Amino acid sequence: MRASYIFAQLCVLKHEMLGKEVAIIRGPSTISLDTDLPATKAMTIEEIKDTVQDFVRAAKNAAEAGFDGVELLGATGDLIDAFTQLKGNAALQFTDAIKRADDLKIAYIHLTEPRIAESNGIRENEWLDFACTAFRGPILVQSGYDSKLARKRVDERHPDKDIVVMFGRYFTSNPDLVFRIQHDLEFTPYSQQDLFATKSFKGYTDYAFSKEYLGSLNMLTQLLC
Ligand SMILES: Cc1cc2nc3c(=O)[nH]c(=O)nc-3n(C[C@H](O)[C@H](O)[C@H](O)COP(=O)(O)O)c2cc1C
Repeated sequence: MRASYIFAQLCVLKHEMLGKEVAIIRGPSTISLDTDLPATKAMTIEEIKDTVQDFVRAAKNAAEAGFDGVELLGATGDLIDAFTQLKGNAALQFTDAIKRADDLKIAYIHLTEPRIAESNGIRENEWLDFACTAFRGPILVQSGYDSKLARKRVDERHPDKDIVVMFGRYFTSNPDLVFRIQHDLEFTPYSQQDLFATKSFKGYTDYAFSKEYLGSLNMLTQLLC
């Protein structure tokens, strides 16, 4: 795409990707992150070092294949997540990891905003301040934002910082999402249930465009004819 970059995401295969029965999944200990899943195999120091080299090789392969960069998946129970996760307030070890990433001058970090619903909505007081302080480069954030909250994140709390809001699930239910953000239109809610459905387009390509977007296309067609 014009003026775009493409990054490959590197991750270690896990149960959800391979199926519970067929795979031996490795982790920091035999305790699986999810009690539903079989025990993991505790990695030896040697295996950890080999895995780091696997990431190095995969990154080099991606560069050779033409990607502009790579990012490492460190969330959703993936291997890096299993090594860094503590239940509860995990801000301390993440601050340490982010500071190290900052020293390496990596292109960006991508974080999920903790959204702790309180009676009045979202907890604002802590937000991702620790990360904004620890990392000097751009920070990508995500967490089911609508346009109002996205603008707030970019413009208000750390106006001098490069904060980039990512949209994921709303892209599925709003094929004209960019137009809706530009014109402050309501988003159509997505179906969480359909998001991970396989062999079905339901929930991916069957949502409607807004009447405003369709109207703008009509206008454009008339201008061009
Ligand atoms: C079906 C589905 C699969 C996803 N797979 C990945 C993935 O492999 N790696 C990743 O970093 N994020 C993944 N995500 C997260 C999205 O890339 C995106 O960052 C996130 O959905 C944005 O937040 P939002 O949906 O709250 O707007 C996935 C999201 C969905 C809905």
